[in-house]
Amino acid sequence: MAIKRTGKSGEKNVGDTARPDLLTPQITAAEAPNPEGNEEGLRPKTLQDYIGQSSLKAVLGIAIAAAKNRQEAMDHLLLYGPPGLGKTTLALILAQEMGVSCKITAAPALERPRDITGLLIGLQPGDILFIDEIHRLNRLTEELLYPAMEDYRLDITMGKGNSAKIRSLPLPRFTLIGATTKVGALTSPLRDRFGLIQRLQFYDLDELQQIILRTAQLLKTAITPNGARAIASRSRGTPRIANRLLKRVRDYAQVKQQTEIGAELAAEALDVYQVDQQGLDWTDRLVLQTLIDQFQGGPAGLEALAAATGEDSRTIEEVYEPYLLQIGYLSRTPRGRIATRAAYEHLGLVAPQRMEQLPLFETDLG
Ligand code: ADE
Repeated sequence: MAIKRTGKSGEKNVGDTARPDLLTPQITAAEAPNPEGNEEGLRPKTLQDYIGQSSLKAVLGIAIAAAKNRQEAMDHLLLYGPPGLGKTTLALILAQEMGVSCKITAAPALERPRDITGLLIGLQPGDILFIDEIHRLNRLTEELLYPAMEDYRLDITMGKGNSAKIRSLPLPRFTLIGATTKVGALTSPLRDRFGLIQRLQFYDLDELQQIILRTAQLLKTAITPNGARAIASRSRGTPRIANRLLKRVRDYAQVKQQTEIGAELAAEALDVYQVDQQGLDWTDRLVLQTLIDQFQGGPAGLEALAAATGEDSRTIEEVYEPYLLQIGYLSRTPRGRIATRAAYEHLGLVAPQRMEQLPLFETDLG
């Protein structure tokens, strides 16, 4: 299988809403798919090697087997969920399992119609085209994708104004894999053209522990099961963060001249990096503390919270919030965000009495 990075995707999708620290679930330049990069060796290459997401793996296993059996391209697939959970890795695995090439790009790199037409024209039968952040496609590009996805046809407008003509070019059957952190931001015509729409979940502790043990083995780093567990528990349910923390703990162990990473050493290192026992860093704590101090625990609107913390609202919504919601430190209500009792307790504060009367809120971005 060949991995091709196309256009400006490398620069554009890297760190757009990034937090410049250890816990960003966004991919960094060093972690971006790159056939020559040293990170490539760490990615699982087959569904069998891929840890976690078991129900999604079952669905994909069937889709692959059926498509292979019919000797057809797989149905278009939309993967959604928080960043860092393995959407790109899954696209690469699907290409590997189908024995086809995977072209990787991101919506912000598809500014002009010719960006997407160039990619589509270059596809071979069965190829996978992976578009990250697909909710950010512009209208023209998105409209070019409709006939491409549905009828494997590229409609190119030649000329301008009254004399403009549309020429249709046939395309080979291909699979579009779209990835997004905001499935609700997709237009319905685009969403409806995906045969499979699948969500990635945060990973549990056992899965993260296994991922860390696997990566440590590939990095030839000695680690105990408890050491892996200690890192897993601070990894925010996110493999990309788990692997990044492992590398920092490995540095710490090396400098401290320790030959094996145990639970104590891992905890000591992560304390130095200011990643707390729930995997929160100071910005997560700032978001919660601001909600509590300046908004009496909420509800606070996203924009108001962004202004009060000095963070970008999209970064709060797409990067910080999903995990705070997942662990039940934050609730989303129609009137805004609320810090929960667990958040008060985590910060060593006493929750106000009135919290008892609050109704149950949505805790999931969906
Ligand atoms: N590395 C990162 N994510 C992984 C996963 N889900 N399984 C195995 N290794 C991984």
